[in-house]
Amino acid sequence: MNQFIKSQVENNLKKSEECYKADDYKTYNCNKCRDLTFIIKENTATPCECRGLIEAKNILKNSGISEEFRKKTFENYNYSFDTQSLDAFYKAKTYVKNFNEIKNKRNNSILFMGQVGSGKTHLSIAIANNLMDGGIGVIYMPFRDIITKIKQNIMDEEYYRKTINRYKFANVLLIDDLFKGSISKSDINIMFEIINYRYFNNLAMIISSEKRFEELIDIDEALGSRIIEMSKGYLVELRGKKLNYRLYGL
Ligand SMILES: Nc1ncnc2c1ncn2[C@@H]1O[C@H](COP(=O)(O)OP(=O)(O)O)[C@@H](O)[C@H]1O
Ligand SMILES: [Mg+2]
Ligand SMILES: [Zn+2]
Repeated sequence: MNQFIKSQVENNLKKSEECYKADDYKTYNCNKCRDLTFIIKENTATPCECRGLIEAKNILKNSGISEEFRKKTFENYNYSFDTQSLDAFYKAKTYVKNFNEIKNKRNNSILFMGQVGSGKTHLSIAIANNLMDGGIGVIYMPFRDIITKIKQNIMDEEYYRKTINRYKFANVLLIDDLFKGSISKSDINIMFEIINYRYFNNLAMIISSEKRFEELIDIDEALGSRIIEMSKGYLVELRGKKLNYRLYGL
C-alpha cells in the first residue's frame, strides 16, 4: 500500500477509535468506509465516495462561507415573489428530484441566467445544500475569484494543474457568476478546459451567470452551446429589474 495512503488510513483509524471510546453510540457519517475515507480490501485501499463530500465541505470551510452557504435554502426562498421566481424555483426543485436519474447522462446540469439579485445564487446553493445532505459533494467555484487566482499563479505548474483538476473532476461543480467582469481569451480557455472535460464525461454542473442566453453563446459558441445542451429542460432566464430582490419592499 502506498505510504501516504497508509498513513492517512492509520490516522483515520486512530481518530475513529478515539471517537468510539468517547461515545459508545457513535454513528458513522459514512457507513461504507466507517469514516476512514478509504475502503480497504485485500490490503489495497480505494478512495470512498464520501471523500468528494469531505473535500467540498473543506473548500467551503477554508473560504469562510460555510455559514452563509447553509443559509440559502428552498425553505427561505420566496417563490411567490414573481411568476419568474416560481418558474426558477420549480425547475430547481425538479432538478434535485431528478438528480439521481440524470446524473450520469449528458443532460444533467442546470443553468440560471440573467438579472442581478434575482436569486440565481440563492437557488444554486439551495440545490447544492440538498445534494450535499444526500451525501453528494458539490465543489463551489466562485468564477471571478478563482479565475483571478489561477492567472496569478499561472507560472506555478503544480498549482495550476491541481486547481484545474479539482474543478474538472468534481462530482458536481457549482460555478457561481460565470463570465462576470471583463472576459479575456485566457479566461475562456481555462473554462473551456474544465467544461469541455465535464461535457465529455457527463459530469453535472450548477451554473449561475448574469449573462443572457444569447450573450453566453456570443462569448464562446462552443462553450455556451455545451452548457446549454447539458442544461436542457433546466434553463432558467430571469428578466427585468423588478426581479432584483435586494430592491424588494423599498
Ligand atoms: N425569491 C427570493 N426569496 C428570498 N430571498 C431571495 C430571493 N431572491 C433573492 N433573494 C435574496 O436576495 C439576495 C440576492 O440574491 P442572489 O441569489 O445573490 O442573486 P443573483 O445571484 O441572481 O444576483 C440574496 O440575499 C438572496 O438570498
Ligand atoms: Mg449571484
Ligand atoms: Zn466513506
